[in-house]
Amino acid sequence: MLSDFYGNNLTTTTGLARDNYDVGLKAFLSANYGAEQAFSLAVEADPNFSLAYAGLVRAHMAAGNLKAAASALITAKKMVNGATEREKSHIYCIELLTSGKSKEAREAVYKHLLEWPRDALVAQINTSVFGLIGFSGQIGRENDLLDFTEMLLPHYAEDWWMMSMHAISLCETGQTIASMELMEKSLDLNPRNANAAHFFAHILYEENEVEAGRDYLHAWMPSYDRRSILHGHLSWHEALWALQDGDETKMWATIDSSVSPEKGTSLPLNALTDTAAIYYRAELAGYKVDTKRWSRLSEYAVQNFPNMGQSFADVHASLSHAMAGNDEYLQKYIEGKNGFAGDVIPFIAKAWKAIAKGEWLIAAQELAPNIDDFERFGGSRAQRDLLEFTYVNVLLRAGDTKKAKNVLLRRRPKFSQTAPIKLLGKI
Ligand SMILES: [Fe+2]
Repeated sequence: MLSDFYGNNLTTTTGLARDNYDVGLKAFLSANYGAEQAFSLAVEADPNFSLAYAGLVRAHMAAGNLKAAASALITAKKMVNGATEREKSHIYCIELLTSGKSKEAREAVYKHLLEWPRDALVAQINTSVFGLIGFSGQIGRENDLLDFTEMLLPHYAEDWWMMSMHAISLCETGQTIASMELMEKSLDLNPRNANAAHFFAHILYEENEVEAGRDYLHAWMPSYDRRSILHGHLSWHEALWALQDGDETKMWATIDSSVSPEKGTSLPLNALTDTAAIYYRAELAGYKVDTKRWSRLSEYAVQNFPNMGQSFADVHASLSHAMAGNDEYLQKYIEGKNGFAGDVIPFIAKAWKAIAKGEWLIAAQELAPNIDDFERFGGSRAQRDLLEFTYVNVLLRAGDTKKAKNVLLRRRPKFSQTAPIKLLGKI
């Protein structure tokens, strides 16, 4: 029987199908463009290869082709009869994932991995900050992610992908030095793993190494295909460091060419959240953001996230609506409750509304009781700094400088002297 890159048996006898499956698997796990084509070639070589259709589902989803993903899933299920128990369970996990049953999918992934821990494409569903643990909405989800990758790591030996996934978990639980050591090993094995490069950038962000971060991405990005899933988000990191460095020209050039929805290649979740975050962080730092930018982003949020429910998107959609003066849509977030952190979103939306009006005391009152729930929205610590620094800024604007500095020192100590907030006098 043929097997994949991780030694899992595959129900195909066609070498070319297996080889293309592995190309797709590696492209997908390293966040590089090409997975759709590779899985397509795999099913072309063996039209009965059900797991290759399952790979195609994931690759289509990552490319934002949801209709094609749904169609590939139907074919995967049609072909599943002669497949192994692992392949059947793998396809079941994907079916739950695509149906939006996140809790059930997360639990099915755990169960699947107890029997087949080296099924990396299934493990991937729960890993990193945008996975199903990252978006569980639970307090402690960062530690849950660390537990998850720690459980899997011994099964993967010297594998570049799993090393990078565990290094991400370490980074997001404050273990930046251990994370860097492991990520360097991972990058030695595969320097073009964009997940590793991405979180190497996060490690540098967490250490507040602005110049080193800019240099790193400046060297790494030119050979990263613009069509790859992380191109827009890595550009966000570049723009953010340009902001911190006072390089406004580079910041806007990067936003306009690669981050914002107009020209960037990000999936809607990243296009919305990264653009909203960099706009508001630019405002915090003292840069002027044209109201037309906010209006365009608010319209984009209406089109792509018309309903409340993805709480990480909702934090940023409500920000965009507040800054654009789109009260009709902002009100939906103030009155709604849907989503994995839907109980907290109304407070954040009310805070954005108050901030847009310059009502700083009201904004402080809305944010203060909820700061320990910020983790529940998902995303990385770097992304969450939108809320951390907003809260500090609100306190400064409300005249509570002592509390503002204490909050920063306690919650983001690496940035206590250098947070890019104009009122701190650091820009
Ligand atoms: Fe990031």
